[in-house]
Amino acid sequence: MRIAVIGGTGHIGSWLTPMLFEEGHDVVCVSRGIKAPYRASPAWKAITHLHLDRAEEEAAGSFGVRIAQIEAEAVIDLTCYRPESAEHLELALRRRVQHLLHCGTIWVHGHGVSRPLTENAPRKPFGDYGVRKAAIETYLLDAAVRTGFPVTVLHPGHLVGPGWAPINPAGNFNVRIFAALSRGEEIRIPHFGMETVHHVHVEDVARGFVSALAHRDAAVGQSFHIVSAAALTLRGYAESMADWFGKPVRLRLLPWEEWKRDETEKDAAVTEDHIKHSPQCSIRKAHSMLGYEPRYTSLEAIQESVTWLMRNGAL
Ligand SMILES: NC(=O)c1ccc[n+]([C@@H]2O[C@H](COP(=O)([O-])OP(=O)(O)OC[C@H]3O[C@@H](n4cnc5c(N)ncnc54)[C@H](OP(=O)(O)O)[C@@H]3O)[C@@H](O)[C@H]2O)c1
Repeated sequence: MRIAVIGGTGHIGSWLTPMLFEEGHDVVCVSRGIKAPYRASPAWKAITHLHLDRAEEEAAGSFGVRIAQIEAEAVIDLTCYRPESAEHLELALRRRVQHLLHCGTIWVHGHGVSRPLTENAPRKPFGDYGVRKAAIETYLLDAAVRTGFPVTVLHPGHLVGPGWAPINPAGNFNVRIFAALSRGEEIRIPHFGMETVHHVHVEDVARGFVSALAHRDAAVGQSFHIVSAAALTLRGYAESMADWFGKPVRLRLLPWEEWKRDETEKDAAVTEDHIKHSPQCSIRKAHSMLGYEPRYTSLEAIQESVTWLMRNGAL
């Protein structure tokens, strides 16, 4: 198949773009050509690169046409953050593409109602990003019903991979938490540490996209969670990482306001966003309809990433 990957050099694309090439597809990677992929692969040289700025092209009304001109059978959109962008692309690709795969996020659920969250759970999004991604999902799945537009929405959890820091047991990206756990030092966690985070290894996300392409007929008109098999509680996450470092765990559980007081504004905001969502998503639907089987547990993915951080002097 000829496949266009919009944003094909980022976290997900670094795995997905070469994977598609290795599967025998003719791949066109669309980006501005600024970001280098996280993962080296000989495939990058054989892949066609189309450099354009989505924001500029959208403002000029030409982005959809540029993507349609690739004449891809499938388009994977990893960089769509606004409902207007989704609509613009959908209109340009209508009847011109066999499959559009849109990268969503588990943030579309917001606080949700029950756990585990299933794809058909009522959406209760909050925050600008989650609200916009939920509106995109609604628009695209509605287009599938209204016009038969062949779209699939995949919702990854917190991306983890070698090359960048994973969400830590305090619910933010500060690597000092891992450093403290590795030395057996006390770490501070808000509340009782029972809120959850749901990671996924980017390789599993890439496999999720490949599975959705391979199961097109089942996937069209549907959304799927692409996460690890189980979420982690913050407390369980901290304890498991301390164990992995071979150190005793020393947790200080604090009421929110007290915890927040000694954190930077940025770390506190990221934690607040994560624990207000406290995601825990089911992969049953992706497993039964797409054959999705994550290779990594959350902890395996995180430990691989932390090993990379240690080897590269980032801890
Ligand atoms: N991060 C997470 O934990 C997480 C969790 C769930 C879902 N998601 C979803 O995952 C997707 C993001 O994937 P990612 O993390 O792999 O992305 P990323 O690492 O931020 O990579 C962005 C990609 O898009 C390209 N790009 C950025 N701005 C562009 C522009 N104006 N025009 C054309 N290309 C542009 C970048 O290359 P250039 O810079 O060279 O243009 C790069 O290839 C989003 O849909 C997000 O909602 C992320």
